[in-house]
Amino acid sequence: MGKAKRIGILTAGGDCPGINAAIRGVGKTAIVRHGMEVIGISSGFAGLIYKEVMPLAEEDLSGILTHGGTILGTSREKPFKKKGNGTIDKPKLIKKNYKDLKLDCLVCIGGNGTQKTAWQLSEEGLNVIGIPKTIDNDVFGTDFSFGFDSALTIATEAIDRLHTTANSHKRIMVIEVMGHHAGWLTLYAGMAGGGDVILIPELEYNPKAVNRYLLDRAYKKKPYSIVVVAEGITRPEGESAADYVARMIEKDTHIETRKTVLGYIQRGGSPSANDRILATRFGSHAVDLIAGEDYGRMVINTKNETASIPLADVAGKTRLVPENHSLIQKAKSLDICMGNDCIVLKS
Ligand code: F6P
Repeated sequence: MGKAKRIGILTAGGDCPGINAAIRGVGKTAIVRHGMEVIGISSGFAGLIYKEVMPLAEEDLSGILTHGGTILGTSREKPFKKKGNGTIDKPKLIKKNYKDLKLDCLVCIGGNGTQKTAWQLSEEGLNVIGIPKTIDNDVFGTDFSFGFDSALTIATEAIDRLHTTANSHKRIMVIEVMGHHAGWLTLYAGMAGGGDVILIPELEYNPKAVNRYLLDRAYKKKPYSIVVVAEGITRPEGESAADYVARMIEKDTHIETRKTVLGYIQRGGSPSANDRILATRFGSHAVDLIAGEDYGRMVINTKNETASIPLADVAGKTRLVPENHSLIQKAKSLDICMGNDCIVLKS
């Protein structure tokens, strides 16, 4: 048997529920099953640049499965982003510290930006494994990233709550959901929460069609409407998606309209049961790859199974909602307005 491997683990980018479950999945599998050493790296790639690290023992991993956030801390540090002359060579420092710390592999838990950096580091000769996490569900190559299901639960509950207050006041309620440039969270939460209008960045929307649809609901004596909008939809500069859509609706329909921006509530708190399982599977699978010295890969979920693909296939790509996604088709079948050619059934 060769020397026990020593692996570094970091969490980068926006946090989400399930990261600690993934750290635990990596750490326990590495320590208990493979006898590896695990080094926790603080605050994403910044911790590797400035060598802020801490060994993780098995007992450090107990009790974290259900906790939101990340015990390692995170940052949006992008070491390969070009800065002005005279700034430190971050990739060089990372390579030096990787060597000094005697790491055999680096596990990078993060979204698209993190996976790109992971690939760049593997191109620089480091052994790297990526684990996808994000509430946006937009990491290329995986059907699901952990964080998404928890955020979906929170956003759905928020929409549920809007129904009762909207009904009492006979208002239109606009709710803005996160997702960066992708509409996954909005589409799923909009469907789960019974949204009447769902606007996602991937589909063009026509304000006139949306307003006509909302007015038609009012004529049909539907007492209120719920409009679920993604933060990334096209809108005038300087205005949030919720601000713009609410303003546009009220101006043309003259129906009292209110807006809610869900914000960081979506990213906080304890992971859902599904996210705990997905994160645990991802973490444990990542270590199996390391044990087999199968580096330069990102773990994925495909057709409900855990597998992996080369980081090279993921880097620089974003997984958007396809225009012909089956859930969009179903929404249209249910007379939900997706922003354009909304069916207005005869009153
Ligand atoms: O990528 C996750 C995400 O929460 C997006 O949905 C959102 O646009 C962004 O991060 C917010 O980023 P920050 O944490 O930098 O404010």
